[in-house]
Amino acid sequence: MERTAVKTTQKTYDGIAAEYSGSVDETIAGWVGEFEKKLLAMFVGMLPGETVLDLGCGNGKDAGFLGSKNLKVTGADFSRGMLNVARERNAGIPFVQADMRKLGFGAGKFSGVWANGCVYHVPKADFPQVLLEIRRVLKKNGIFSFNFKIGEGEGLEEKPRSFGGGERYYAYYGIEEMMVLLEKAELEFVVMVGYPKKIFGETIFHFWAQKT
Ligand SMILES: C[S@@+](CC[C@H](N)C(=O)[O-])C[C@H]1O[C@@H](n2cnc3c(N)ncnc32)[C@H](O)[C@@H]1O
Repeated sequence: MERTAVKTTQKTYDGIAAEYSGSVDETIAGWVGEFEKKLLAMFVGMLPGETVLDLGCGNGKDAGFLGSKNLKVTGADFSRGMLNVARERNAGIPFVQADMRKLGFGAGKFSGVWANGCVYHVPKADFPQVLLEIRRVLKKNGIFSFNFKIGEGEGLEEKPRSFGGGERYYAYYGIEEMMVLLEKAELEFVVMVGYPKKIFGETIFHFWAQKT
């Protein structure tokens, strides 16, 4: 069932890629975009090196921002549709197809992994594996920076609140729950920042953790 749910999410993003990219552009045109630039700046400030993975990169807006900071950025996403949009918008940045549950990168390749608005698409049962993969591809002292939606439970949502363009899987976490998961994956919690307002009715927290 969960395997089907992930495939459904992937298929949905393939089908909505161009429209979804437009809806993201609209969202970040307001306060969200300004706020997320501050989160990105915090991430850049913590990096112990210059190689960065934008995981679940979508249309590549954050990969583009990170590239403009003279970082060596790679974007990864499991949706070929989203990757096509990302490539069109960001010439010069490599974008590769990858499922965050099994990344095809070598160990210790990245100084940082940025995962904006995407880890919540993975079923909870698979999330420990995602964290282990991220830890594996990080260098020592590398930074994992990501956000998630606060709440409980998980499941396929037919009309997601953010952009109702099709069925996608969502998993919700509590702050303590997330801290325990990081600890189990040997990623040391560094700091968290809550979004100042709800987005589409949802409370979102951004975390930074380090591979020590
Ligand atoms: C809500 S969008 C966010 C995109 C982008 N990070 C942003 O900030 O606009 C979620 C993205 O995560 C990708 N995604 C979801 N599950 C994934 C998985 N298991 N592995 C890789 N990418 C995934 C989707 O294809 C989609 O592009």
